[in-house]
Amino acid sequence: MCGIVGYVGPNVPSSRPQGVAMDGLRRLEYRGYDSAGIAVHTGDEIVVRKRAGKLQNLVDAIEADPVPDGVASIGHTRWATHGGPTDVNAHPHVAGDGALAVIHNGIIENFAPLRRELVEDGVEFLSETDTEVVAHLLARAYDGDITAAMLEVVGRLEGAFTLLAQHRDQPGVVVGARRSSPLVVGLGDGENFLGSDVSAFISGTKRAMELSEDQVVTITPTSVDVVGFDGTPATGRTYEVDWDAAAAVKDGFPTFMDKEIHDQPAAVRDTLLGRRDEQGHLVLNELRIDEAVLRQVDKVIIIACGTASYAGHVAKYAIEHWCRIPCEVELASEFRYRDPIVTERTLVVAISQSGETMDTLMAVRHAREQGSKVLAIVNTFGSTIAREADAVLYTHAGPEIAVASTKAFLAQITGCYLLGLYLSQLRGYKYDDEVAGYLEELAAMPDKISTVLDEQQERVRELARSLKDEDSVLFLGRHVGFPVALEGALKLKEIAYIHAEGFAAGELKHGPIALVDEGTPVFIIVPTPRRPVLHQKVISNIQEVRARGARAIVVAEEGDTEVEQFAEFVIRVPRTPTLMMPLVTTVPLQIFASEVAAARGLDVDQPRNLAKSVTVE
Ligand code: G6P
Repeated sequence: MCGIVGYVGPNVPSSRPQGVAMDGLRRLEYRGYDSAGIAVHTGDEIVVRKRAGKLQNLVDAIEADPVPDGVASIGHTRWATHGGPTDVNAHPHVAGDGALAVIHNGIIENFAPLRRELVEDGVEFLSETDTEVVAHLLARAYDGDITAAMLEVVGRLEGAFTLLAQHRDQPGVVVGARRSSPLVVGLGDGENFLGSDVSAFISGTKRAMELSEDQVVTITPTSVDVVGFDGTPATGRTYEVDWDAAAAVKDGFPTFMDKEIHDQPAAVRDTLLGRRDEQGHLVLNELRIDEAVLRQVDKVIIIACGTASYAGHVAKYAIEHWCRIPCEVELASEFRYRDPIVTERTLVVAISQSGETMDTLMAVRHAREQGSKVLAIVNTFGSTIAREADAVLYTHAGPEIAVASTKAFLAQITGCYLLGLYLSQLRGYKYDDEVAGYLEELAAMPDKISTVLDEQQERVRELARSLKDEDSVLFLGRHVGFPVALEGALKLKEIAYIHAEGFAAGELKHGPIALVDEGTPVFIIVPTPRRPVLHQKVISNIQEVRARGARAIVVAEEGDTEVEQFAEFVIRVPRTPTLMMPLVTTVPLQIFASEVAAARGLDVDQPRNLAKSVTVE
């Protein structure tokens, strides 16, 4: 939600500051695309260009009115909160007669009283944003040192924010501040970078430095200085990014979503890599929880948002089955507002691709305040949730750019299974050889996902094109097929803007079946016939919808011939243990949504109104 990039290079003006900012914005555009803007410091002045709408509008504006060479830059891509997506509300915002430029991700909650104060002081506001308040406060506080001004101003701000600012009188300096919003430093050679995440500067450097909560960072071409909001000097952990710019390109696929759907065998495989110690025991990445505490856990609560929450729903079946611990799944945005029962014996599991989702972060903080331990299953190294949790299990899906999550979902499910097996091993519910057996089954999943991609893709795309004008599509599943149905419906809503609902197949008759009309497409996720009771129940559900005129599109295991007589269309997945079926049954639903969206002429990677990383509550 809002992407931020900052750059300071050599003292001699060049086109690099503009190039870095624009390249960063291209990579960060998934975080918001309501507007985009850059400010380039020429050495003498700050030149700003900004435009509402997608980044291309800014590219066109700069082509019409080129930006001079410079020594430093900041850039911003916006997901609107305060003030609509207009040119004027786009960042950067300037103050002090153009002397100071600022960009911001987050929400300044006390912006109204601050704005009133500034207006009374005679300040004229150009935009409706909360950010412009910060620009004026900084300009007022500036006394020759932008870092000192930033330290003064952050003390007056409430809410969540990442801020970057530069001043006309300090050409080779960009200052950043962060509270509950992401900001990473990129360490270059004679140049330094700032970004919402490492993708902002990955083509410039792979060396990164984490920042902690409530810190201000000042970069020059040759220095990076970090202090706490109270002025205390600090340092951040440095690390090497383990992927490069090539991982964040489309690789010949028409969209990032398509590319990421095809990345899924690798995402699952990489998430499983290196998980066992010399004794063959499963290990987590960062465990800051005593194993004795984990043995005492009497309840697991999974918190997450969107697609990640459906990974949590899948995990519940595995964790309860393997560990015999009650497991609840809760939307992170609801968790802390309902006075949840969490104790020292509760293990809260936060699932997040970005590791920055504000709802999830706030739920993590609430759980820790209540004394429970938090384990994060996160895809982005060094992200806020990963740093604040007591333990981390990283998924290794690589950068996910398309707003609709695909490979992160399968990697999250894989990560959850690893956690379930880890807990069951630790608590003695499963013998080592049983754990090894499950790991072998998991290790076979990447090939099965590839089989679905190879054998079903063209058929599913054809089906999608034939259904592109439908008004409503339903998805049904039982057991782990239920969250798969929810995810299938979410994908279609998110990117194809078609009304879609996922239901527990057994719940259909209690109301939703009234939605079924002549010709309504209904996807049914059929469990393996090796679970006959479950299988039979779903067969009955197919008959129920067909009797009401539905077109049954069935996702079923190969060799399940019984479904054929009840289905208009059968999508085959390889034979798979029940609990692991979501890793294959989800894939055709992702392909379906992406093709429907493309056939409707929509922007598959950047659907309207959404952002990938939602850093406001
Ligand atoms: C946004 C995205 C979803 C994603 C959700 C959770 O709403 O559009 O695709 O599932 O956030 O994101 P996270 O990074 O926490 O997994």
